[in-house]
Amino acid sequence: DPELVAAGEKIFKKCKACHQVGEGAKNKSGPQLNGVVGRDIAAVDGFKYSNAMQDLPGDWTHEALAAFLAKPKDYVKGTKMSFAGLKKDDDIEAVIAYLQSYP
Ligand code: HEM
Repeated sequence: DPELVAAGEKIFKKCKACHQVGEGAKNKSGPQLNGVVGRDIAAVDGFKYSNAMQDLPGDWTHEALAAFLAKPKDYVKGTKMSFAGLKKDDDIEAVIAYLQSYP
């Protein structure tokens, strides 16, 4: 849904201080997020994750991402992602659609 992706691009402004997507995306204070939907958790080479995130099993399913982005510090106790979370479900769905557009 291109409209959802466009809405997600606006939401992603909140993430850009720490994360990049797209061609040439680099790790900044957060890992690059290309292909993050469906990716193993804490799997970007060269990024130093918290122990908390490294200890989380599985991959970033849509559901896991939605729960994490709503309340990062509740979903991953001890995460070093300093972000309060997105309050609106619509914003979460939009930003996930945006991330999914960078497979
Ligand atoms: C980790 C998404 C905002 C810093 C992650 C991960 C995702 C994510 C999916 C896990 C990546 C992986 O397992 O490879 C987002 C989204 C944001 C956002 C969509 C905006 C809505 C931020 C902000 C910061 C930040 C604003 C910095 C202030 C980090 C850090 C990690 C991380 C440091 C690694 C956490 C750890 O190792 O515990 N983020 N993030 N993120 N993010 Fe964000």
